[in-house]
Amino acid sequence: MITPRIPRPNIHEFDFLIIGSGVAGLFAALHLADRGSVALVTKDTLTESNTEYAQGGIAVALGHDDRPEDHAHDTLVAGAGLCDPAAVEVLTAEGPPAVEELMRLGMRFDRKAGELVRGQEAAHGRRRILHASGDETGHEVERTLSRRAYVHPGITIFDHTLMTDLLVVEGRCVGCDALALPDAERVRFVASVTILASGGLGQVYEVTTNPLVTTGDGMAAAWRAGCRLLDMEFVQFHPTALYHEGSPKFLISEAVRGEGAILRNAAGEHFMPDYHPEGDLAPRDVVARGVFSQMRKDGRGYVELDFSSIPLERFLSRFPGIVAELRRLGFDIYRERVPVAPAAHYAMGGIGADLRCRTDLPGLLAVGECSSVGIHGANRLASNSMLEGLVFGLRAAAIAPALPRLSYELLGVAAELAPPPVRCAPTALRAELQSLMHTCAGMERDGETLLEARDTVRAWAAQIATLPVSSREEAETANMVTVANLILTAALARTESRGAHYRTDFPEPDEAWRRHIALRMDAAGAVTTQFAPVENALSKAPAASRRAANSEADEWRD
Ligand code: SIN
Repeated sequence: MITPRIPRPNIHEFDFLIIGSGVAGLFAALHLADRGSVALVTKDTLTESNTEYAQGGIAVALGHDDRPEDHAHDTLVAGAGLCDPAAVEVLTAEGPPAVEELMRLGMRFDRKAGELVRGQEAAHGRRRILHASGDETGHEVERTLSRRAYVHPGITIFDHTLMTDLLVVEGRCVGCDALALPDAERVRFVASVTILASGGLGQVYEVTTNPLVTTGDGMAAAWRAGCRLLDMEFVQFHPTALYHEGSPKFLISEAVRGEGAILRNAAGEHFMPDYHPEGDLAPRDVVARGVFSQMRKDGRGYVELDFSSIPLERFLSRFPGIVAELRRLGFDIYRERVPVAPAAHYAMGGIGADLRCRTDLPGLLAVGECSSVGIHGANRLASNSMLEGLVFGLRAAAIAPALPRLSYELLGVAAELAPPPVRCAPTALRAELQSLMHTCAGMERDGETLLEARDTVRAWAAQIATLPVSSREEAETANMVTVANLILTAALARTESRGAHYRTDFPEPDEAWRRHIALRMDAAGAVTTQFAPVENALSKAPAASRRAANSEADEWRD
């Protein structure tokens, strides 16, 4: 436990600092809070996160007819050759106890006659998706975990606090600098271990299902601190976001197709069987591309989702959130098909981390969507993301207390350092960037367009550091420019098509490209591209580990 020295305003000292309050951050916080003091830093309200809006549920092999090996198999197939098998094995084998732990904390999944109800989603070989309140699983997860976090004496919540940069002293992460909002007052957190659980980057795209908070802040800060980012070119588009005005786009869960809904073109034809034998339940990247291609053939910005084969009573009880939102927007769900189109949904890539959540930077762990552990490959299997947050949230909580504590001297240096200027970009740039990414790095990409977009974004990036700070939006916009540059760089480098990355100039997968792209900043601040084999490139773990994270903690002392 760090003994606070002379308390000073605006400097907070904790054992563990967690940035982000989705499922991964909250789960890690609750499992660390008995081992030391925890600061939970989040830039909006505690529950505002991608987790909050997750509909489908949590994929886990808990059924008597299911096995983690089968779940692993489906994950590997969906990942299009780029998943690291060791990471997938950890996810699927440690998934069942992690979900049981979530239930122990109070999570109530939907049940029928006392048994857990298991839903079907695309590319799963069987029903294994647990859900809650029908289609409000993420909301229930956030509610369950945040209620506990609010009352836990070991957790101090700093909401409306935007992390601006990681604090690095003598090659080690020792906390972060932040802005307390809305006044943008500078604050500093000093901690022995920092865990980034800051989520994804969907807002980099004009059309996204992700809430406004998803601006890639954690990835951008890790990048500036010298961490390696992996597989940034793989941004998953969800095939069925509601086609309507405004952002973010309302998601219509894949579970709706799991229950029998089908996609139809302008002529009313059921078109997905023309694209894949699994039809509407093909892997997500395949369905998204099928929808995109059909939209082009039809000359419309959407296709239609037909719910009519789902009995109405079932539809109303299984998807109350979707029904309520569609009604609010004026759709007559009894009679109408609903227009849908693909939208940016999930970042498969992120901060390179090993199976123990360790990044390249000592003292810094990364979990959940901001990290890239090798689970999702080129295309994440539906409903694996909250499971990742649970499994790796627990793993982070297991290793963090075993990592070296900050010395009194280092703590002193960290507290004294002058805060660096906050990087800002004009908020007007945000819409321009989103539109550029949508057009140039969306569902289809090609070398010429990517190169042009990358040069534009790099020119924006070069202006960023010089602007004075004034708001959350300006700092976020700078982070969006940083991660957009990384997406474009990796997408340009990968001259093949695989999973969510489709290049019209290289339309086929290429076995020589069955490797990860790792981006790093060189001494001059430029992006360098390296390659890493498919395996957990950063992991020193045995190839397959089924041991519980806790029992491994002792081996991690280094
Ligand atoms: C959905 O409900 O379709 C989204 C689930 C996911 O992204 O895993």
